[in-house]
Amino acid sequence: MTTATLNVEHFSSVIPTDANRFSSGIDELDWLYGHNPINKRFGIPRKVMTLLAGSAGIGKTRFTMTLVKSVLRSGLRVLYFTCEMPKGTFKHQYCKNVEQTAEFYISEERDLNAQVQIIDHVNPDLVIVDSVNRIKQYNSSQRSIDLIEQTYRREIERSDSHVIFIGHLNAQGGVKGGTYLPHMVDIVFAVRKWMANFIEVACDDKNRYGQTGKSTKWAHEDHGVECRSDRRFDDKAWKKGKRRVITRARRKLLGLR
Ligand SMILES: Nc1ncnc2c1ncn2[C@@H]1O[C@H](COP(=O)(O)OP(=O)(O)O)[C@@H](O)[C@H]1O
Ligand SMILES: [Mg+2]
Repeated sequence: MTTATLNVEHFSSVIPTDANRFSSGIDELDWLYGHNPINKRFGIPRKVMTLLAGSAGIGKTRFTMTLVKSVLRSGLRVLYFTCEMPKGTFKHQYCKNVEQTAEFYISEERDLNAQVQIIDHVNPDLVIVDSVNRIKQYNSSQRSIDLIEQTYRREIERSDSHVIFIGHLNAQGGVKGGTYLPHMVDIVFAVRKWMANFIEVACDDKNRYGQTGKSTKWAHEDHGVECRSDRRFDDKAWKKGKRRVITRARRKLLGLR
């Protein structure tokens, strides 16, 4: 059967692949994102979109900055669209302890097409849109969300990056933007209050690159939020992945093949 011009392949010649990942530098967060079953590596998948949704004032920006600071420490490049406040205010309120030399770029741009040009220019590993509801072309219609999805999909494919859209919850606890917004992304993390000064960041029911039903706990501290859970140790896949990494490093150290 000739299939030269048609987009189809026999099962046997399809090479199994999974997303490339980079570590967030925070083990519990890497675990929440999930792992690549092929190489057992946990972390943030490239060319993938996450929605981080929670009610106003819960700690979405603070949580995201804990993640960003950790990613910056490993020398990766981050682009942050601060669409809800001026960049100076953002830096003053959320960027304590960020090195002046970090690969960190901040933009107030709210226009979708201009954002694309900025991503092209900066070429980041991680893009944050704080918040998706503030993109100029955004309204809760399916059409506007389709446009944002298609535009961003094309862009992260090209730049090999991961994007986190921060989104709001409505009064009923659902994602503002109806059912369309969660559909546009690959992963949904919900930020909820856990107890005084603690938040829960959970992946309840959507992760195309990992397991759902996972939850992590974080404490509000003066410098940002700090991880206070270690659920990863109950996960067989985590233990397996870590054992393999250690063994390999050891073998190398010992000069074994
Ligand atoms: N030093 C602190 N200690 C405890 N909680 C804090 C501290 N600073 C801020 N917060 C909490 O963080 C919340 C604001 O976080 P932020 O990330 O801006 O929220 P969001 O982006 O979800 O609107 C505040 O409502 C407050 O509860
Ligand atoms: Mg915020």
